[in-house]
Amino acid sequence: DSSSTGNFSGMGHMMGGEQSVVLDESGQPMTALQLPELLEPDSESASEITYTVTAQAGETAFLEGKTTQTLGYNGSYLGPVLVVREGQEVHIKTENQLAEATSFHWHGVKLPSDMDGGPHHPVGPNETMQVDFTVNQEAATLWFHPHALGTTAEQVYAGLAGLIFVEDDNSDQLDLPKDYGVNDFPLIIQDRTFDADNQFDYAGTYHPDGTYGDTLLINGTINPYVEVTNEQIRLRLVNGSNARNYTFGLENGAVFHQIASDGGFLEQPVALTSVTLTPGERAEIIVDLSEYAEGDTAKLMDGNATVLSLNVTEEADAQTALPQTLNEIPELVTDGAAVQRFTLSGMSFMVNINGSQFDMDRIDVEQHLNETVIWEVRNAQDMMGSMIHPFHIHGVQFQVLSRDGAEPPQNEQGWKDTIAVYPGETVRLAVTFSEKGVFMYHCHILEHEDNGMMGQVSVQ
Ligand code: C2O
Ligand code: CU
Ligand code: CU
Repeated sequence: DSSSTGNFSGMGHMMGGEQSVVLDESGQPMTALQLPELLEPDSESASEITYTVTAQAGETAFLEGKTTQTLGYNGSYLGPVLVVREGQEVHIKTENQLAEATSFHWHGVKLPSDMDGGPHHPVGPNETMQVDFTVNQEAATLWFHPHALGTTAEQVYAGLAGLIFVEDDNSDQLDLPKDYGVNDFPLIIQDRTFDADNQFDYAGTYHPDGTYGDTLLINGTINPYVEVTNEQIRLRLVNGSNARNYTFGLENGAVFHQIASDGGFLEQPVALTSVTLTPGERAEIIVDLSEYAEGDTAKLMDGNATVLSLNVTEEADAQTALPQTLNEIPELVTDGAAVQRFTLSGMSFMVNINGSQFDMDRIDVEQHLNETVIWEVRNAQDMMGSMIHPFHIHGVQFQVLSRDGAEPPQNEQGWKDTIAVYPGETVRLAVTFSEKGVFMYHCHILEHEDNGMMGQVSVQ
């Protein structure tokens, strides 16, 4: 149901609010889940790794019949997984083979801002940009996507998004499912609308408060299944949608465990029956299939829509238990910390932060390197309607101190780079930058970002 109430004639598309596009049970045949390839490094040693990432146009077969014009990294749709290690020097040669400018943004990576690929670092057609940084964070599932000024939403929708897995000694040692494509699956969840010609209908379905689609694509697969043994299965959920929020759960309502949030492992597995992810957020969950027999199917759902069928085709030789301790997360010290306030308000083309829309030439906030500041982010109720804004900060992993004064839920008591702020809510974050430069913060509804719901913090 749309929460929109206003209709200002003569002002264009002013109706605000979250859209209500129902996900189709597509009637498409079940298809094996596409698995992003683990990108072959150009060269690799313990201390250094080099990759090439190319943005390119292509055609992808999602539906019977005609193929869809898409964009992708090193392929026609989405991108590969870049695996890197804490402490490793990473070199990525990025290359733009598109007919338009793009940029390469590393979402969740703590790196100097001139490597961050935000709107200050467009890469023109047939241009390259060299990205170098040292991995300065723990094991996590991160992602990358374009971030050029005003075109982020459209380029992501067309298919530009890839994954980064950070590994470290802790992730090596933890007894968790880590056999890629066997018991460890990334799931990039997106919604798209196809026109009668099997093309993505971005223009026809565009909405300034976030474009929704009626068809779920999981790693670019419609109606996907995986074949698994009845063991613990790790799903790395990535909300890569422009605007849609998902509440994931199992069809039978069974408990699963969340083991990681955006920026790394939680301290302990958190038992849940559902987890909500807004655009940009990630969660790693463990689904225990030990009670399932060969021939059974477990289903990951978003409401009534099936996200993934887990078809048990084999019984496991032995079952493993989930580790009870996953991580040690040092609490950021906020005694006496300064407070920086951000108010998210407006709808549609009027969305803003603290009353201002994005201006590349304006620094909105300053913060010292390695200083912990409390960011108090308020989602102002709006007369014209209100919606959840997923608030994201570049170059940092933060901690959630409170939601409306209350302790955050257990699965938000870990490293985060994107946080859902509900209408009328105030969220307090502990934010410590370990890299210098000018970093973006913005709403991760990509149309809101493009419409100016973004600001810049200068860290010196
Ligand atoms: Cu994934 Cu500035 O964003
Ligand atoms: Cu980002
Ligand atoms: Cu928003």
